[in-house]
Amino acid sequence: MGKLLIVGSLNMDVVIDVDTMPKPGETIFGKKLSHIPGGKGANQAYACGKLGADVSMIGAVGKDENGDKLLKNLQSVGVDTSGVQVLDYTVSGTAIITVNCEGENSIIVISGANYELNKEHINKHRNLIEECDVVVLQLEIPMETVVYVAELAKSLNKQVILDPAPAPKMLPDSLIKNIDIIKPNETELQTLTGMPTDTTDKIVAAADSLIKRGIDKVVVTVGSKGTVLVTKDKHEVFPPRKVEAVDTTAAGDAFTASLALKLVEGSSIEEAIKFGNIVSSIVVTRKGAQSSIPSYEEVVI
Ligand code: RIB
Repeated sequence: MGKLLIVGSLNMDVVIDVDTMPKPGETIFGKKLSHIPGGKGANQAYACGKLGADVSMIGAVGKDENGDKLLKNLQSVGVDTSGVQVLDYTVSGTAIITVNCEGENSIIVISGANYELNKEHINKHRNLIEECDVVVLQLEIPMETVVYVAELAKSLNKQVILDPAPAPKMLPDSLIKNIDIIKPNETELQTLTGMPTDTTDKIVAAADSLIKRGIDKVVVTVGSKGTVLVTKDKHEVFPPRKVEAVDTTAAGDAFTASLALKLVEGSSIEEAIKFGNIVSSIVVTRKGAQSSIPSYEEVVI
């Protein structure tokens, strides 16, 4: 089996369960407070590790208790964290997450160490890029670092997957040209392209605008409606498994990780999407980010 590298964020999630999200100016009572390892990059690395992949991570945490816990959680599922720098001049990333009764969330990220991840740090761990087959990126670290990693990875003939979250209004051409597969959800696709995404036809049209800019495959996750694959030649809809969602946090991260894991195993993109749909359908039935990721045995049974 090939090797995966995740370059991205690590956050300690401070999760508050609520009945309904607070409106501006409103004070509400929360039902429960939990601290759960998260961060889009770390969630993806953790998912790859828990699902049995050979995976490394490049990122940064502060020299603090949260940083320590985040690293230990990744190591507990076999992630190689030698590329995660521990910085003594800043704090680990934090995310404040509210989850309502419908399982929907809202997330505020305080970047901390994640925003210190720079080219020098990447160069120090260049060996991890050289040794891997697939590099997975998200957008909770500086954009110029993401652009640099994608360029370096492509120059070394690696497959590059971008999970464009949180989504900016525009992705630079310098990034797009080095991305093989992009995996937005329908809201992120709308933000990235400025095009509506409220029907399958509109999703295909918006995805097509990214294909025309040079991306090979666009995989759009549409929550309870499943996943849409768009390539130059075709589009295909993959229906979801029907489940009762209690918390959608990290469902997208787990999907991206599953996709990367299956591709590095040599599966087709279609098989990888089907596997990703199953994994994320399990994740939404459990609470929290890394706490909700299943093992490979739980998925295939
Ligand atoms: O995608 C979910 C993740 O987004 C959370 O774990 C949080 O840390 C934010 O990065």
